[in-house]
Amino acid sequence: MKNLTILGSTGSIGVSTLDVVKAYPDMFRVVALTAGNNLELLKTQIETFRPNLVSVLTAEKAQALSRSLTGKKPEIMHGVEGMIAAATASETTMVVAAIVGAAGLVPTTAAIMAGKDVALANKETLVTAGHLVMQMVREKKVKLYPVDSEHCAVFQSMAGHRSQDISRVILTASGGPFLNWGREKLQAATVADALNHPNWSMGRKITVDSATMMNKGLEVIEARWLFDIPVQRIGVNIHPQSIIHSMVEYVDGSVMAQLGTPDMKGPIAYALTYPGRVPSGVKALDLTALSGLTFFKPDTDRFPALQLAYRAADAGESMPAVMNAANEIAVEAFLGGRIGFMAIAEAIEKVMDLHEPHTLASIEEVLEADRWGRRTAKEVLGVGC
Ligand SMILES: NC(=O)c1ccc[n+]([C@@H]2O[C@H](COP(=O)([O-])OP(=O)(O)OC[C@H]3O[C@@H](n4cnc5c(N)ncnc54)[C@H](OP(=O)(O)O)[C@@H]3O)[C@@H](O)[C@H]2O)c1
Repeated sequence: MKNLTILGSTGSIGVSTLDVVKAYPDMFRVVALTAGNNLELLKTQIETFRPNLVSVLTAEKAQALSRSLTGKKPEIMHGVEGMIAAATASETTMVVAAIVGAAGLVPTTAAIMAGKDVALANKETLVTAGHLVMQMVREKKVKLYPVDSEHCAVFQSMAGHRSQDISRVILTASGGPFLNWGREKLQAATVADALNHPNWSMGRKITVDSATMMNKGLEVIEARWLFDIPVQRIGVNIHPQSIIHSMVEYVDGSVMAQLGTPDMKGPIAYALTYPGRVPSGVKALDLTALSGLTFFKPDTDRFPALQLAYRAADAGESMPAVMNAANEIAVEAFLGGRIGFMAIAEAIEKVMDLHEPHTLASIEEVLEADRWGRRTAKEVLGVGC
């Protein structure tokens, strides 16, 4: 029996995780759940999974949740303290890190420091603090399982192989909703256009990241830390069908790939049950029903965010955390209708131009770099969000 904490249970990954968990009551027990603002969904999850502890964003939300619950209530906490308590709960053996953005960093690292295995969806944890996080994973001897479908595919494609035989990791990208849009049309892209992803159903922030291709850039940095491979040997192929989830190329020219119907329940179930496999509810793949699988190089002229992520990875130190923070602010401004689509990458580039990278020796220093990136992005954009 695995005892789970799910950080971000009301999000897209959180809900898919609970779908998998619900199908295997003999394998999983839910110890703690955290949410942000979605009290209605959290209430339903509490009634279904009966966790001991839950946490929400604010004290007001915690009180409102408490008032809405009848019968035996879980302990209800709030804020960072609540997320840390959920991540480190003594009964928990595995934490699913599914909060969006740099907000996931503190509870995820708290889980690792408390010796919990982590199923990691929150890629921003590794983007902002990869060197510190991987050091903690080694020191605490915990397991870090990738939930991102690309990294789950790389993980599976590396199994049974020697790391010195790997020549390249190739992450696949759907290309998002704007794959075939010209620059001029992109200037006028609306929020609804950006949220209209062709293959994946995800939270709003990652869906916009997917449209700008910053998501793939964040994944390149995530892969650099997860698999200890230089970014120069991590490539990106556009693969609009999202059937091959990523590949590993070996020195003898062989390429190992993982294929499947695009559905996050697959990588989630694999992370929860590794090294076993269980039916995850993902539709079986029928290759004969596909008209073809295609691959091509990304266009960094129309999608400059991908190149910015490579630049941030090259600069290292505090630059990825600053880039990530600027991206979060710019995406929020775009979603709020305050800036246009192309202004997202322009703002990130300006913030990076203004930043002098420096060493980050602690999570507190990462958070300080994150705050600097947010402040500077707001100044650059002239927004107060
Ligand atoms: N969705 C996917 O298919 C997918 C695939 C691969 C990787 N990922 C990664 O997984 C993570 C989650 O993505 P998602 O699509 O599931 O996001 P999402 O649907 O937006 O859900 C985010 C979750 O985090 C909570 N949350 C948001 N801001 C918070 C804050 N400041 N403090 C505490 N909790 C907060 C939300 O709570 P409320 O909703 O209650 O406010 C929600 O439970 C991201 O890092 C993403 O890059 C997602």
